[in-house]
Amino acid sequence: MPATCIKGTGYYVPENIVTNADLTRHMDTSDEWIRERTGIEERRYCTKHKESTSIMGTKAAEMALSNAGIRGDELDLIIFATLSPDYYFPGCGVLLQRQLGITNTGIGAIDIRNQCSGFVYGLSIADAYIRSGMYKNILLVGAETHSMGLDFSTEGRNVTVIFGDGAGAVVLSATDEENRGILATRIHADGSHAEELAMINPGSHGGVHSEDPAAYGYESSEYGKTFISPKMLAEGMIYPNMNGQFVFKNAVARFPEVIGEVLVASGLKKEDIDLLVCHQANLRISQFVQKRMGLRDDQVWNNIQKYGNTTAASIPIALAEAVAGGKVNKGDLVCLAAFGSGFTWGASLLRW
Ligand SMILES: CC(C)(COP(=O)(O)OP(=O)(O)OC[C@H]1O[C@@H](n2cnc3c(N)ncnc32)[C@H](O)[C@@H]1OP(=O)(O)O)[C@@H](O)C(=O)NCCC(=O)NCCS
Repeated sequence: MPATCIKGTGYYVPENIVTNADLTRHMDTSDEWIRERTGIEERRYCTKHKESTSIMGTKAAEMALSNAGIRGDELDLIIFATLSPDYYFPGCGVLLQRQLGITNTGIGAIDIRNQCSGFVYGLSIADAYIRSGMYKNILLVGAETHSMGLDFSTEGRNVTVIFGDGAGAVVLSATDEENRGILATRIHADGSHAEELAMINPGSHGGVHSEDPAAYGYESSEYGKTFISPKMLAEGMIYPNMNGQFVFKNAVARFPEVIGEVLVASGLKKEDIDLLVCHQANLRISQFVQKRMGLRDDQVWNNIQKYGNTTAASIPIALAEAVAGGKVNKGDLVCLAAFGSGFTWGASLLRW
């Protein structure tokens, strides 16, 4: 049975740097508060009318393909993970295919959500296809444009200061090389906390998940349900909401738990990890996980200080940067781990 290896990595972040000080012009916050609670110093926002989730994803994919030495038309499958797609439908997968100039219609394009865990979920899908022998080369992209959907008033400050835009990509290929590639992946979900970190509107829920439909912005309409209502727009109900402390508590428990699972599944120990790349949710969460697991500074990679939380893009951006910076070498044991909205979480352990 072939194994799945990462053959090439790539990333793209917009040029437009937004510092904490820049945000203080829009909302009541401070550089000190943001750094202390999140470790974030700056983030990138897309250039208006020029960049989008699929466009950034395409740039990251081009770099990953070039580093893998593979042409777009050699791909068997595209998997695109995002919670901020260009269009409600179709998804970014087909836009990426078009923008890469792939005219081969024999290729599939899968769009997945799974928010901050999107990349690890995508990895598990790609790994299953490759190990089954069905596909040889898969492009997995995680990209986000958060800046289009954030509340820049003081009311939205707890969410807005955290998120940034960007894209990362990997080319996954089949390998027969001994002791190389993905050793184990585990994914999890707990939908009982779905609304603790969510963007509820616009949507087709019609208020059914709340005892008070109006609290979700629902207004009855003559035909069907309200997808977006004047109330949602007027009352700022179209922005993401987050129960920050609850998310924090769950994240610091789930990260070590799932990392432990992939280590056990592979018969390895935390001391064997050469590099842990956690989803960049909050530097304080990553530091908590590092401490809980007793890992040294040189065993972890963080870059949230520069980019904020880029959701599905954060692991592939961090991985591509670590690879470009010479932090990942052949034979290294790399662990990728994620936690986020859903709640969903997961981890993957791979031999580089
Ligand atoms: C969001 C987070 C940084 C907030 O930190 P916190 O210590 O939990 O802060 P709280 O939400 O309890 O708010 C504390 C105070 O700071 C204020 N505050 C919130 N955001 C602020 C901001 N950007 N600037 C200044 N003050 C802010 C709150 O209004 C509150 O004020 P009050 O005490 O007067 O009511 C933190 O909860 C967190 O990082 N959670 C995890 C989030 C995450 O990782 N999400 C992504 C998961 S994938």
